[in-house]
Amino acid sequence: MDIPNYDIKDIALAPYGMEKIEWAYRNMPVLRAIEKELIEQQTFKGLKIAVSVHVEAKTACLARALARGGAEVALTGCNPLSTQDDVAAALAKEGMHVYTVHGDDEENYIRHLKMALSFGPDIVIDDGGDFAMLLHSDMKHLVPGIKGGCEETTTGVHRLEILKKQGQLAYPVIAVNDARCKHLFDNRFGTGQSVWTAIMATTNLVVAGKTVVVAGFGMCGRGVALRAKGLGAKVIVTEIDPVKACEAIMEGYSVMTMDEAAPLGDVFVTVTGCKDVIVGRHFNLMKDGAICCNAGHFDCEVNVAQLKDIAVSSSELRHNIIGYKLNNGNTICVIAEGRLVNLASGDGHPVEIMDMSFALQAQSARYIAEQKEKLGIDVYQTPEVIDNRVAEILLATKEITIDKLTEEQYRYVNSWDF
Ligand SMILES: NC(=O)c1ccc[n+]([C@@H]2O[C@H](COP(=O)([O-])OP(=O)(O)OC[C@H]3O[C@@H](n4cnc5c(N)ncnc54)[C@H](O)[C@@H]3O)[C@@H](O)[C@H]2O)c1
Repeated sequence: MDIPNYDIKDIALAPYGMEKIEWAYRNMPVLRAIEKELIEQQTFKGLKIAVSVHVEAKTACLARALARGGAEVALTGCNPLSTQDDVAAALAKEGMHVYTVHGDDEENYIRHLKMALSFGPDIVIDDGGDFAMLLHSDMKHLVPGIKGGCEETTTGVHRLEILKKQGQLAYPVIAVNDARCKHLFDNRFGTGQSVWTAIMATTNLVVAGKTVVVAGFGMCGRGVALRAKGLGAKVIVTEIDPVKACEAIMEGYSVMTMDEAAPLGDVFVTVTGCKDVIVGRHFNLMKDGAICCNAGHFDCEVNVAQLKDIAVSSSELRHNIIGYKLNNGNTICVIAEGRLVNLASGDGHPVEIMDMSFALQAQSARYIAEQKEKLGIDVYQTPEVIDNRVAEILLATKEITIDKLTEEQYRYVNSWDF
C-alpha cells in the first residue's frame, strides 16, 4: 500500500488543535519530566512507534514526547468518535504520520489502523487491542519486527490475556492498565469525573435527585458511582461478581439485577467490558426519557441494534443524543451511539489523570526500547520502579514529601525477628 504522510480531515484545522495541545502540555508535569529525559537520551532514536489511542490533546502530548525522544511516530485512533480532527491536523502539520478522521466508518477505521502499522513499527501502543487484533490476523508479517507493545485499557489487557492462554500471543506486551498509577487514578477518578462531565454537557440536565444505574462495579464503575453520589443521585449498581456486589452494598448503593433496575433508572451507565448488558427487554421496561450511555471500551454494552429493531421511530433530540420511540409510547435516549461517552461526547479524562497514564506509557515504551535482548513473549506487569516513579514525580511537583522507613522499621517489616 502506498502510504501518504497523513490522512486526516483538514490540515487547516491545525491552529485550533495546537491550542488544545499546548493547554494539555502545560498541565502534564509528570510527562514533561519524562519527556526531558527522553530528549536528553534520545531513547527512541532509530525506532518506529505506532500509537492507537484516542486522538485528542493529551494523546498528542504523549506522541510528541515519543517523537522528541527520537522516534518516528505514526498515530491513529482507537475509536472512530473520539478523534478530534483539529488535534490530528496539528500533529500532521508538525510532520507526524497521522491517520484518522472523526466519525470514520468501520472500513476507514480499519484502513487507518493498517496505515499506521504499515510503516513497520518496533513498538506498538494500543488502547483496546485493535493493533493487536490486526497483528494477530491480517498483518502478522509485521510481528518479527516488533520488540514489544503497551496496552492502555482493561479490555485490551483482557484480550491479550486470552491470546496468551490460547498460546497465540505473538509479541511481548506490557499491561500498562494494571499499573497502580493507571487504574487507581485513570479508571476510577478519570472515568468517574469525565463520564459525568460528558453526560451533563451533552444533556444539560441535573443529576441531583435522579436515579442512576451503574452496570459494573470495577475500577471504572466505582468512580462513576462515587461521582454520581457526590452529585446527589440515588445510585443503583448491577454486578455479576458477588464480592464486588457486596462492596457496592457497603459503599451504600442499592444492588439488583438489570431487569429490576430497568424500570427505576433515569440514567444508565454501562462500564463492564462485557456485551449485551442492556438489551431489548430492558428498554421496554424503562421510563419515558430514560438516558442510556456506555463508558466501557466497546460499543456492545448497550445493545443499540436491538433498540433500533424495537423502535417505531428515531430522531436526534440534541447533539449526540438519539431518541428511540417505542411501541409503548416511551422514548429512550442514547448518548453517542452507545460508544464510550466520555470520549465520544467529551474530551476524555482530565489532563492531570492522563499525565500519569501517559507518563507510564512513555516509560513502558522506554523499558521495551532499552531491552538488550527481545523480551520473551508474555503479558508483563509494568515494572514497579516505573509505577513508583510516576507517583514520586507527581508528589514532587506538588512539593509534598512523605515519610521513609527507618532502617529499624525496614528490618521490622521485612523479618520474622521482632
Ligand atoms: N471510559 C473510559 O475512559 C475508560 C477508562 C478505562 C477503562 N475503560 C473500559 O471500561 C471497562 C471496565 O473497565 P474496569 O477497569 O472498570 O474493569 P474491571 O474489570 O475492573 O470492572 C468491570 C466490572 O464489571 C463487572 N461485570 C462484567 N460483566 C457484567 C455484566 N454483564 N453486568 C454487570 N457487571 C458486569 C465485573 O464483574 C467487574 O466488576 C473496560 O471495557 C475498560 O477497557 C473505559
